[in-house]
Amino acid sequence: LSVSKAYLPIKEAPYTRLCQTKNILTANGEYPGPTLYAHAGDTVIVEVVNRAKSNITLHWHGVKQRRNPWSDGPVYITQCPIKPGSSQTYTIVLSDEEGTVWWHAHNDWARATVHGAFIVYPRRHGKGYPFLKPHKEIPIILGEWWKSDVSKVLEEMVRTGDSPNVSDAFTINGQPGRFYPCSEEGMFEVMVKRGMRYLLRLVNAAMNDELFFAIAQHRLTVVGSDGSYTKPYTSDYITIAPGQTMDLLLEANRPSDGLYYMATKAYSSNSVVGYDNTTATAVIKYSTKRAPLKAYFPFLPAFNDTDAVVNFSKGLRSLASADHPVDVPLRVDHRMVITLSINEFPCANNSCQGPNGSRLAASLNNISFVDPSVDVLGAYYSSIKGVFKKGFPNKPPLVFNFTGDDLPLSLLQPKKGTKVKVLRYNRTVEMVFQGTNLVAPLNHPMHLHGHSFYVVGYGRGNYDKKTAHRGFNLVDPPYMNTVGVPRGGWAAIRFRTDNPGVWFMHCHFDRHTTWGMDTVLIVKNGKRRADQMLPPPANRPSC
Ligand code: C2O
Ligand code: CU
Repeated sequence: LSVSKAYLPIKEAPYTRLCQTKNILTANGEYPGPTLYAHAGDTVIVEVVNRAKSNITLHWHGVKQRRNPWSDGPVYITQCPIKPGSSQTYTIVLSDEEGTVWWHAHNDWARATVHGAFIVYPRRHGKGYPFLKPHKEIPIILGEWWKSDVSKVLEEMVRTGDSPNVSDAFTINGQPGRFYPCSEEGMFEVMVKRGMRYLLRLVNAAMNDELFFAIAQHRLTVVGSDGSYTKPYTSDYITIAPGQTMDLLLEANRPSDGLYYMATKAYSSNSVVGYDNTTATAVIKYSTKRAPLKAYFPFLPAFNDTDAVVNFSKGLRSLASADHPVDVPLRVDHRMVITLSINEFPCANNSCQGPNGSRLAASLNNISFVDPSVDVLGAYYSSIKGVFKKGFPNKPPLVFNFTGDDLPLSLLQPKKGTKVKVLRYNRTVEMVFQGTNLVAPLNHPMHLHGHSFYVVGYGRGNYDKKTAHRGFNLVDPPYMNTVGVPRGGWAAIRFRTDNPGVWFMHCHFDRHTTWGMDTVLIVKNGKRRADQMLPPPANRPSC
């Protein structure tokens, strides 16, 4: 097992996109940030120095951080912010992750520009990939760009109580591509050789949009998602929610005189809300002496094609081989049903700009999460009272027709609070995420820190506990850390609480995170030392 070190100074740097230059927050001056490389089982030590004017924390999305929530990163959940001029060392011990995970800032909306891929190769001296070794690996990070400062977009959203301004472009490896002004030149290009196989390591780092992705004339074979191998699954297009990663095999088997565009655009389940309806592009070129004759563009599903999303997601399966077995809990110790709602709070004189003069909010089981002023982890570890409350409910306050039209108005206004769920060590948990039609029916990418989970089922409409489990996949469900809950539908996950610590759970749309679609799972220590949280490192930032 090897230990490697990385150094990530956080600083502002000028970037020009869409004919305008602005200073953005970066890691090491790079956008997207540097790719980290390691092997399964390795330890990576990352030193973060904050040379910017604003706070920062970093999160290693998809790394379970066994027994070590201290290095997980979400602000006010596992740590206080790293203030300008200070630094923090994160110790990242990889366990069973293999494939692509990623890293991103986890405070305010800093992750819009502070993020990068984290590639985890197969274990050293192990059996290698469960597929033919690719000729080359290519990280592809999908992002979202605003002409104005992202911190201003957030400020304005909070001030007005309205939805945030939609982004001005999507990006592929930091570039909007040829359909945008001043963008053709920097467009991301991949050079391939005919007959070779490439592994694309796709990350959706966009803030507020689930995305479609495709490459003209080439089918893509998914071989991994969220740092875990999948059964090879070939598709003409991919759907990827913010937070998710996909490992895709691409065979360079087309005539070498073509220019093959790759493209990404939003899946927006609700056009009333408004969304960035632009398409970002990059290009694949074959190495040949002749000039390309013809350009090809890929087909992408319509922006509101929820069936395309659900059909793609339902095709994902764990590899479930002897070397990569699944361990789906067949018996459930603890059941939860969690509603995902958009809400509204009243404003003095209806002076906010949300629906009917209200302020938009969001909730889980009708509780809109409020960030504490010191971190939950520190408070839990040192038994500091008054920071959070236990008792996040196991089910919504009312059973009703969640996806119907006549929803109880009482639920429009959720309770506010810092409510956490405490779970015993080594229990099996089933969670059903149920979307609601309050204010607006939307899709929600739900993400859990500290664990991956098996996505055992999806459905449209209301989850019916009497019948839904009959359709569950308990054989080879995908092992994910972020699940796209369909618009006006539900998703069911199962996992084991085998990682003691304090773990954030939230919608990975940043506007929803900010509005309170969050909670915290505290997994208690087991009896043996090896089943307990590690002690805190020296030099944690203070609030
Ligand atoms: Cu990708 Cu809580 O994060
Ligand atoms: Cu959401």
